[in-house]
Amino acid sequence: MASPAKLVNADTGLISREIFVNQDIYHQEQEQVFARAWLFVGHEAQVPKPGDYFVSSMGEESVILSRDREGWLHVFLNSCMHRGMKVCRYDEGNTPVFTCPYHGWSYANDGKLVGVPYFKDAYHQELDKSKWGLIEVPQMFNYKGSIWATWDDSAPPFLDYIGEFKLYLDLLMDSWDGAEGGHRENFIGDRYHNISHRSVDLVGIGPSGTGRRDQGERAGARLLDVSFPERGHGTVMALRPTDAPIPQAYQDLPILSEYFRHCEEERKQKDGQLWRMLGGPGTVFPNMSYLPRQPRSIAVWHPRGVNQTEVWRWFMVDAHAPQEVKDYLRHYYIRYSGPGGLTEQDDMENWNYAHSASSGVVARRHAYNYEMGLGHGTPAYENDGLKLPGLILDTTEARAAEQNQRGFYRRWAEFMDADGWGSLANWQNGNSHG
Ligand code: FES
Ligand code: FE
Repeated sequence: MASPAKLVNADTGLISREIFVNQDIYHQEQEQVFARAWLFVGHEAQVPKPGDYFVSSMGEESVILSRDREGWLHVFLNSCMHRGMKVCRYDEGNTPVFTCPYHGWSYANDGKLVGVPYFKDAYHQELDKSKWGLIEVPQMFNYKGSIWATWDDSAPPFLDYIGEFKLYLDLLMDSWDGAEGGHRENFIGDRYHNISHRSVDLVGIGPSGTGRRDQGERAGARLLDVSFPERGHGTVMALRPTDAPIPQAYQDLPILSEYFRHCEEERKQKDGQLWRMLGGPGTVFPNMSYLPRQPRSIAVWHPRGVNQTEVWRWFMVDAHAPQEVKDYLRHYYIRYSGPGGLTEQDDMENWNYAHSASSGVVARRHAYNYEMGLGHGTPAYENDGLKLPGLILDTTEARAAEQNQRGFYRRWAEFMDADGWGSLANWQNGNSHG
């Protein structure tokens, strides 16, 4: 088998199916990508009080996001140091100690081993408890309430990892609707797949249907694909003209319409030119995706074996929004992507079939085509005095491009080939490519 990096040719837009279905590549990816990159773990709002915890994942591994009794946050590997039992089998809760269900070792919420059955008799008090606390991530970062961590102590600081992509991530974190603090490829730039959602569009509740609040918001806007191939991140967005009026959303629901109008006005006052950016789906390499606008949400793609991905969604609602707005958004989210939802289920259907139809020995011989818009990106985009970082491809007329996907897989290939962060932190690598 060729080295994984050779299976990705971002310059020609050809990407081997092997990288999606091959077992060996999957295992290498756990080591090369997931044990190295910064990963999204959760939000501090999930663990507001001392003793609160939330069980998340980093790659295939279960981790505990814990707030200790002093109020400090920690991320621990959810595996007992004695024989590896999953120390915490709940999804979330509050506890002063995590007691292992197997033989009863217990760990305080700051990770320290504090209790060992028969410590006196069986261990003769010779076990050095200070050496057997839970494994903690070497680096963790709280970015505007979102908690990120990496298993690699040589990884660059989180803000370097994000780089200028921060501007786009802030569309989510700084929140559109006045909140405080705060499906992989389709989330980085697949504007091409709207046909998948035609049925929900036809009844007016799909991504381009009339049941959405952003009707009219995009009038006269430029549609942009933004890629950071040297980092792997990417997003799509709409850039409104400087004189764009505030649209009337939800005219049939005055309270909603009024609320969003108010938010939009506040935003316009607050951030000069940035209100013109209507963020679309984006992805922070390798597995955190987000939608900064309704349905405002975070999606994390957890690997669960070569043929399985588990997707977690967090939906975000402004804590200060009127109850009617919260109710409306909750229904919207459930309809859009809940277990009985109508829109994102279309995407899963495609991924499942695409995956199984790509796994056979013959199918695997043929690369996927990611040529769309190849070489059409521009590194220094400016529109009416607003300069935007990243490699930008204007898709207003073209309607779609695959630049962001090429950038993502280019970076993936670099991770798969690299010995460590030494060469990966050279941010110039992918800069000029489209
Ligand atoms: Fe946890 Fe033995 S595995 S106490
Ligand atoms: Fe979709």
